[in-house]
Amino acid sequence: MRIAVACDHGGFPLKSPIVELIEELGHEVVDLGAYDFEPLDDYPDFAEKAGKAVSSGDAERAVIICGSGVGACIAANKIVGVRASVCHDAYSAHQGVEHDDMNTLCLGARIVGSELALEVVKHFVQSTFTGEERHRRRLEKVRQIERNNLTPESVR
Ligand code: RB5
Repeated sequence: MRIAVACDHGGFPLKSPIVELIEELGHEVVDLGAYDFEPLDDYPDFAEKAGKAVSSGDAERAVIICGSGVGACIAANKIVGVRASVCHDAYSAHQGVEHDDMNTLCLGARIVGSELALEVVKHFVQSTFTGEERHRRRLEKVRQIERNNLTPESVR
C-alpha cells in the first residue's frame, strides 16, 4: 500500500519513526514533509497535501501528525473522500478502518509517546475495511452527506 505521511512542527519528532515503521511493515511511504523542523509552519498546509494524496488516489491512506492531531484532522476532513480521525488508542485505529473505512490517521505528538504512536500506526496500517453490509450502508450515508455539500444557508 502507498501511504502518505505529513507533519507540521508539532508532529515533527514522530514523523521519522513512523516513516521507518511503515516501511518495515512493507509499505511505500510518500513523504510530504515537513522535511525540517520549522516552528512557524502551519498544519493545514500538510494536512491538505496528505488529504489531496488520498483524495486523488495517489496514496491509499495517510498519516498526519501535528501537536494534538486535532487541527490536522479538521483540515483533512475538508477534502472530499478523506475520512480522517484522531486515534490515540489501538482499538480506534483498527476499528476505524474495519467499520468506518477510515483512510487517514491523525496523531498528536504532544499527546502520545512514540511507542504508543507506533502501535496505533501499526493497527491502522494492518487493518482492512470489512465491507460488511451494515458498514457499507453507513459509509454510503457518510458519502451522501459529503455530496449534499451543506452550507450554513442550506441547513437553516
Ligand atoms: C502547532 O503549534 C499546533 O497548534 C498544531 O500542531 C496542532 O496541535 C493543531 O491542532
